[in-house]
Amino acid sequence: MKRRPLIAGNWKMHLDSVKARQLARDLIPAAASAGNYDVMIAPSPTLLPVVAEAVRGSTIILGGQNVCWAAQGAFTGETSPAMLLELGCRMALIGHSERRHIFAEDDRLINKRLSGALEHGLIPILCLGEMLEARRQGLTFKILEEQLRSALINISITSSDKLIIAYEPVWAIGTGQTATTEQAQEVHVFLRQLIGDIFDKTIASGIRILYGGSVKPETMAALMYQNDIDGVLVGGAALNAESFSKIINYS
Ligand code: PGA
Repeated sequence: MKRRPLIAGNWKMHLDSVKARQLARDLIPAAASAGNYDVMIAPSPTLLPVVAEAVRGSTIILGGQNVCWAAQGAFTGETSPAMLLELGCRMALIGHSERRHIFAEDDRLINKRLSGALEHGLIPILCLGEMLEARRQGLTFKILEEQLRSALINISITSSDKLIIAYEPVWAIGTGQTATTEQAQEVHVFLRQLIGDIFDKTIASGIRILYGGSVKPETMAALMYQNDIDGVLVGGAALNAESFSKIINYS
C-alpha cells in the first residue's frame, strides 16, 4: 500500500505570536509545492489561534503538542480535544519524550490521552523511543514493544489513517545525533510488524510511521528513501522557515 508521507514540525515551547505568524506564513509556499505529502505544524497551544489564522486556506495541517482525554473538566493545565479541534487542529502529538521524561507521563496516561483523542476524532501521533542506555544494553526492541503495546491497550481503530506512530530515539532528540537510516528502518519494520500483530495486516501496511530526532535538510533524503519511513517529526529544524522548507521539499 502506498502511504502518504507526513512531514511534521514540533515547535515545542518556542516563539511568540509575531514570530509564529511569520514562520507559518513563510512555510505556506513549501507546503503548497509538497504535492503528495502532508505537512503539519504543532505550535504551543497559546499560539494556535494566530497560526490557525495565518495558515487558513493553505495546505498546512495544524496539530497540538499534547492532548487531554476529556472534552472538558477540572484538568488544570491541560488542553481538551474539543479545544484543539475548535482551533482547527486535526492531529495531536502524544507521548513525546519530553512529556515522558521531564513531566513523568507514563504509559497509562499516554493510553488515556490516545483513547480520548481517537474518541473525539483527532489523529494521535504516538511518539515512542528508547534511551541511550537501553540501546546500549540491547533493549531497544523490548522497550519499544512495551511502549507500543501499553499505549494501545483497549484501543481499536477502523482504518490506518486514524493513528500515526513516530519513532524518536531519545538519544537523537535535540542532540544533533541522528539514528542511521538502517537503525531507523530496522525499528520501523519492527513497529509495523507489531502493529500487524496488535491490529491487523491491512492497518499495518497503511499506517504511517515517522522518524524523529535531529532531522535536518541534509539527512532527509536518505531517511525518506527507506521503505518503512513514512515521514519525519522535526523539532529544531522546524523553527526556521528555510530549513523546514528544505525538509518539506527535500526531493
Ligand atoms: P529535534 O526534535 O528535531 O530537535 O531533535 C525532534 C522532536 O522532539 O520531535
